[in-house]
Amino acid sequence: MRVVSGIQPTGNLHLGNLLGAILRWVEMQDRAECLFFLADLHALTVDVEPAQLRANVREMAAALIASGIDPARSTLFAQSAVPAHSELAWLLQCVARVGWLNRMTQFKEKSGKNREGASVGLYSYPVLQAADILLYRPTHVPVGEDQKQHIELARDIAIKFNTDYDTELLVPPEPYIGGGTSARVMSLRDGSAKMSKSDPSDMSRINLSDPDDLISSKIRKARTDPEPLPDDPALLDRRPEARNLVGIMAAVTGESIEGVLGRFAGQGFGTFKPALADAIIALLTPIRRRFAELCADPATLDGQLVAGAERARALGAPTLRAAQEAMGLL
Ligand code: TRP
Repeated sequence: MRVVSGIQPTGNLHLGNLLGAILRWVEMQDRAECLFFLADLHALTVDVEPAQLRANVREMAAALIASGIDPARSTLFAQSAVPAHSELAWLLQCVARVGWLNRMTQFKEKSGKNREGASVGLYSYPVLQAADILLYRPTHVPVGEDQKQHIELARDIAIKFNTDYDTELLVPPEPYIGGGTSARVMSLRDGSAKMSKSDPSDMSRINLSDPDDLISSKIRKARTDPEPLPDDPALLDRRPEARNLVGIMAAVTGESIEGVLGRFAGQGFGTFKPALADAIIALLTPIRRRFAELCADPATLDGQLVAGAERARALGAPTLRAAQEAMGLL
């Protein structure tokens, strides 16, 4: 079993990143050979200050390690430190079709009304993502629901490449969604919007950097409804805010939704919220402390990323070379 996944170094980490992606990655380390990277090339597709990007890469690496990604066991690196990602991406751009990219919903959302002014990189983003994956021939690609279309595109690219060049080199990937502690964490102010670092209201999210008392007050003020908690998960379907808080509790404690409801059915949010705040604080406090220690020693962090990149380069090189040969290069 080989796992590959990437995360954009966005800066300003929050509980959504942690529960939605990072803690799932941590669990996978026990079951598979894992490659995890900071998608700094993808981060260039929207405007970002160079100094900010550099800081974000370190910060995200520190957050991953603080959360339990072990750079001795998992191959952890910055995407840009492994040139084969970019090199394979160009080859795959000559395989992918404009019509396929035109269907990508993320490009439509991110470019919005200003499509003509969007970077070409934002448009071809999913092809670079396909290269990230196909380079390492993984068996599993853990991603959130919102990345499903990109994984399907990577499949289509792999299949067309194999057909066009009469090879079985590229392994069409399967998205690996859900499982384990994964939770789709929604805004604390609006149960229908994803928790996001770009939400103008800081009250909508729990940041990794929030002190304990701020966590408590954000949970206390989180939007809910007046009903007590039900005993049946199906009864949460029309209560997005309640469902979100219960889902967060389950992900944070490692319980099932049923397990959480078993403990709190019939009780109101006056009892549930303080318990939830305590559980979040218990999870985040040690991560925050390790994160601060790691950030204080950037040389060690950089060294770990360099070592990871070296391993990744060796793992990816044969695929790139075979792809070049298949296409008539070299
Ligand atoms: N696009 C992914 C996201 O925003 C990040 C990513 C880049 C990725 N390359 C990848 C995820 C390869 C999985 C595999 O979440």
